[in-house]
Amino acid sequence: MVAVVVGAALAAVGLAVAVSPWWWPAAVPLALLGAVGVWDLVQRRHSVLRNYPVIGHARFLLERIRPELQQYFVERNFDGRPFDRDIRSIVYERAKGTAAEEPFGTERDVYQAGYEYLVPSMAPRPVPEDPPRVRIGGPDCTRPYDMALLNVSAMSFGSLSANAVLALNRGAAAGGFAHDTGEGGLSEYHLRPGGDLVWEIGTGYFGCRTREGDFDPGEFAEKASGDSVKCVSLKLSQGAKPGIGGVLPGAKVNAEIARVRDVPEGRTVVSPPYHRVFSTPRELVRFIARMRELSGGKPAGFKLCPGSRRQFLAVC
Ligand SMILES: Cc1cc2nc3c(=O)[nH]c(=O)nc-3n(C[C@H](O)[C@H](O)[C@H](O)COP(=O)(O)O)c2cc1C
Repeated sequence: MVAVVVGAALAAVGLAVAVSPWWWPAAVPLALLGAVGVWDLVQRRHSVLRNYPVIGHARFLLERIRPELQQYFVERNFDGRPFDRDIRSIVYERAKGTAAEEPFGTERDVYQAGYEYLVPSMAPRPVPEDPPRVRIGGPDCTRPYDMALLNVSAMSFGSLSANAVLALNRGAAAGGFAHDTGEGGLSEYHLRPGGDLVWEIGTGYFGCRTREGDFDPGEFAEKASGDSVKCVSLKLSQGAKPGIGGVLPGAKVNAEIARVRDVPEGRTVVSPPYHRVFSTPRELVRFIARMRELSGGKPAGFKLCPGSRRQFLAVC
């Protein structure tokens, strides 16, 4: 096929030179196609192009627009993950302040195993004026916090940009819910909009760490005493990654991230898989109590992904 295109291109160029310049509009595209075909045949990277010169490029083009084709033509309103189109539409509508009510009728299979629903009551309660809140903090806590039921889950500064952090915190301030900082440190972007914060620390102790990577109680106490910080939280296992797993690649550690996290600029930081400040369940619980004291009596909690029932029971 390539030979045919090249032959046709040569003939068209010959006619354009010898007979009439009107042949050029045919000669130029044919010459380009012929050049692409020859290149496809001699290159050694893509077997698809060697086997199907020229036409094989359609495969790469379609692959490139696959997400759009999937989203616009294939995906149903309730298929997408983590948020389907229906949910995204509600978010867009609410963000723009337009109507966000949905009419009756559902496209979902409500008889599917695992489908979650609310059952009606014969004695419904009036909707409270203020959204319900739950008290966080037991008897040892001198500054308990009444937390909204839906809050912003931990996402570290560094994995999120400054603008994203500002937007989330501004939302928390406007909606009266809490914003978890994630373990990437407590930045000025978390504090500026004035939304309630849960300050999380992980194995890297970012934002309250010594040069050697140990927990720095003085720095923790100073930052945790801020008014916006309503709770403190300890994350077990590793993370904080605008890159790969528990590794913060040096190229991503710019001056600002370095300052917020107390780490050297431009140097790769590894979040160890374990905590330096405790190694047994009892020590873990004592450390959480210490966090509560250092924060001036604010609720202190922990987040983990339990891998072993026995380990978790030991903590309980
Ligand atoms: C960009 C990003 C950064 C995250 N950073 C943290 C973090 O610093 N600390 C943490 O405990 N969890 C972190 N997480 C995990 C979330 O808090 C949450 O547990 C996880 O995304 C599961 O919730 P989802 O199914 O609603 O996404 C992060 C998640 C994302 C998407």
